[in-house]
Amino acid sequence: MESGKPKKSYLTTTRRVFTNSLMGGIIGGVIGWFLYPIFRFLIPPKNINQDSNIVKLNATEIPVGKSKIVNYNEIPTIVIRTNQGLFALTAVCTHLGCIVNWDEVNQEIVCPCHAAKYDLNGNVLSGPAPKPLTLVKAKIIDDKILIGEA
Ligand code: FES
Repeated sequence: MESGKPKKSYLTTTRRVFTNSLMGGIIGGVIGWFLYPIFRFLIPPKNINQDSNIVKLNATEIPVGKSKIVNYNEIPTIVIRTNQGLFALTAVCTHLGCIVNWDEVNQEIVCPCHAAKYDLNGNVLSGPAPKPLTLVKAKIIDDKILIGEA
């Protein structure tokens, strides 16, 4: 005996399930797309190179004669490795705040904006910079460079 109501076929049910799943996936994706940046903003990423406020680098990252800019306590810090030793200083020029560079040839720290020059201890050698750069503690232990360590 057949009723007047049409029977749902297996194909119809499968199509509905597929469509609902697809729509759910799209809506979930859009919601995730909106919420992901908010979560990223609220939950700061873990930096495996930082333990408390000490920055750790592999010594191979800064060969002798070279430098690298790192963030130490949220401040750009220039780490310079020379034959005289390891030096770390705030990399923000005391004139107008440009980020300084290491001039390997002349063995001095130079500001690219108005040519202030500093020595490895941060003292002003020339230019408009009114104050020295601040020294940051740094040392090499085994194959690690520690910035911010006593
Ligand atoms: S900002 Fe560095 S010398 Fe002016």
